[in-house]
Amino acid sequence: MSDETHFASSGAIDTADRSSDLAEADLEALRTIAARYPRSRSAIMPMLHYVQSVDGRVSPRGLEVCADILGLSTAQVSAVATFYTMYKRRPAGQHHIGVCTTALCAVLGGDELLTAVSDKLGIEAEQTTEDGMFSLERIECNAACDYAPIMMVDWEFMDNMTPDKAGQLLDDLASGREVHSTRGPKITSWRQSERVLAGFNDGQAGQGPSAGEASLRGVEIAHERGWVAVPETQTAKPAGKVVKQANATSGVETPAATKRAVEPAFKATVETAASPKPKRTRTRAGGAK
Ligand code: FES
Repeated sequence: MSDETHFASSGAIDTADRSSDLAEADLEALRTIAARYPRSRSAIMPMLHYVQSVDGRVSPRGLEVCADILGLSTAQVSAVATFYTMYKRRPAGQHHIGVCTTALCAVLGGDELLTAVSDKLGIEAEQTTEDGMFSLERIECNAACDYAPIMMVDWEFMDNMTPDKAGQLLDDLASGREVHSTRGPKITSWRQSERVLAGFNDGQAGQGPSAGEASLRGVEIAHERGWVAVPETQTAKPAGKVVKQANATSGVETPAATKRAVEPAFKATVETAASPKPKRTRTRAGGAK
């Protein structure tokens, strides 16, 4: 049986490469991050992001420094660094590209998009181009399915991507032209994004539109049809009994048990919609919308 893994980046930290650019000022920054938490070990994740912002990966020295500051063993820090896919064991590119191929993105062209990006860059997923400009990752659902298929550039969303749009985007990045996420923020670099994830604001947090049309469609339908939640006390009826849907438009009748299951969620959604529209926030670190 082959020992070959299907997760090429799932090995340990690359201890053969001892290079590191962490300077004294960076160690001070790491101590600052650790001091933000009541229990300093809670700072492991932002500290590792900071290490990546300097070394372009989780370097052996970065591991040791984090362990030293936090009073942990390098094995304990390494256990975190090798568990999450956002931590890279080999140098990522100046721009890190992620293409989602999970269910909805796959149905809407995610696999074709990944193939097109891979062909364009001349690398496979989990590899970095020779010039260090781009790295490529096959990513799991980023909770942006309403804008599928999704591509990430330095953890910023590129919504509703196509192979053609991706090709133009990569050309623009390679030539140094200014590129913005489809949600607003300017693309800087993967390392800069990692610094933001470490907790150092780059001033772009307020950029971008409020919640987009696709994200709000369900709430609008609820409004149009007058769907409201039934108070808990009124839903305590025998399972299976049919009650009249509070929906003059459709006239649909729904089993009481089903209504009990779904309407609290509707209530929360409708109440949220009645409030000022939420900002569709920056997209780094895994898909908040
Ligand atoms: S399936 Fe791609 S963002 Fe959800």
